[in-house]
Amino acid sequence: MDLQLTIDERQGLTVQLYRQLRAAIVEGRLAAGQRLPSTRELASQLAVSRKTTLEVYEKLEAEGFLAGHGAKGSFVGRGLASSAGRRPVSIDIVPASVWRSVPEALAMPRAGADLRLDFRGGVVDRRIIDFAAWRRAIAHAVRLQARMPGTYRDPAGEQELRLAISRYVGMQRAVACQWNDVLVTAGAQHAINLIARVMVEPGDTVAVEDPGYPPASQAMRTLGARVVPVPVDGQGMIVDAIPADARVIYVTPSHQFPLGMPMSLERRVALVEAAARRGAVVIEDDYDGEFRFDGRPVESLKSLDHAGVVIYVGSFSKTMFPDLRVGYAIAPPSLMPVLLKARQLEDWHGCTLTQLALGRFMLEGDFARHLRRAQRIYARRREALLGWIGGALAPWMEVVPSSSGIHLTALLRGTSEAGMVAHAARLGIGLHGIAPFHAGGQGPGGLLFGYAGMDVDDINAAMSALVSELGSQ
Ligand SMILES: Cc1ncc(COP(=O)(O)O)c(C=O)c1O
Repeated sequence: MDLQLTIDERQGLTVQLYRQLRAAIVEGRLAAGQRLPSTRELASQLAVSRKTTLEVYEKLEAEGFLAGHGAKGSFVGRGLASSAGRRPVSIDIVPASVWRSVPEALAMPRAGADLRLDFRGGVVDRRIIDFAAWRRAIAHAVRLQARMPGTYRDPAGEQELRLAISRYVGMQRAVACQWNDVLVTAGAQHAINLIARVMVEPGDTVAVEDPGYPPASQAMRTLGARVVPVPVDGQGMIVDAIPADARVIYVTPSHQFPLGMPMSLERRVALVEAAARRGAVVIEDDYDGEFRFDGRPVESLKSLDHAGVVIYVGSFSKTMFPDLRVGYAIAPPSLMPVLLKARQLEDWHGCTLTQLALGRFMLEGDFARHLRRAQRIYARRREALLGWIGGALAPWMEVVPSSSGIHLTALLRGTSEAGMVAHAARLGIGLHGIAPFHAGGQGPGGLLFGYAGMDVDDINAAMSALVSELGSQ
């Protein structure tokens, strides 16, 4: 028989020949029992070495695709007889229906995209991290790792890091806890998912802020929760509007996402009371509350939690960098064992190397040094931006007062979000509207300015160009 095989000179001959023969057998173009040319014949037919054809036949034989090769020739194995002759059809695999309502993953910047004049949220400035100190921490972690037994580790995370986090949140966020109250996660989003997984039964009511952070509500939805958007006002979530049957309440009290105001003390007290009355848990997502700029330090909601209903969630995505993928949850003791089970069933535990390095970085004081430096630098950027919004841009927008976090939000006056974003795009400036954060995509127009990744000169350049453009309309 004559085999029609195409060989691409640029790729490995053995791999190509193997793949093509295997595909021909699997797709039924070569039927079970059919004789193949001998290795010598095939080698001369394709002008390749006999060693190549022999190697391929041996591999196919070992996998059961060919039966015996030798003097009598080689034959297609019979094991595939039932599927032989079937053309490959691509079957549409149908995932659970809930995933149809989950939108695409959050838009990521294109690789190589110029972020210099882009005010997208969640971006930090990697240039201000002391990578020499981080390298030392990694080297320390490798030394520790080399001495570890060849086993899995604790799903709750490395003790060094848990200790460092417990001290840090105790000092910085007034969260009183011991090292073993800390569950290390792969970021705040992972913590929110784990909590959802252990708390939500299909049909349960989950209250979220409106406007709010979509990935948190989407995580709840995928587990069958009935997600109820609860409006926020200048003091944060309106506690009286939380449904009576809410089992989980998700809030961002330090720096409401996306608007930016802190939740008032009165509302915080009311929220803890309301949760305790309902037997609900409150997820406090403190995603960037450590950057505090003016006014009285805003303490965590968890510090007011006399009833043990608040699960505090923190992240290193803003204090270090987002791709570090480390966050944590500090849960009431009654919930910890089940969270650990869930973590173990998910991925056993996070990356030991990263955790050991971060623990070292914190315990050596490098993290605190970095935070002080970042705070100083970000404060200057924030001031610059506030100057523009409150000054030359005041005819078009008004900032939402906030005291912490690495983004500012301004509500628009008499101009549309889409129009603003389009004007800016023409100038090569990335502006981002808050419409996607409103339930139903509708609400007062506004812009979310992530400023941490831009230096003052870039902020000034972008804003002055925007002002000229808007002024010339
Ligand atoms: C409100 C809010 N929560 C959680 C996260 C996710 O944080 P992480 O990267 O730790 O998963 C973000 C990220 O920007 C956020 O804005």
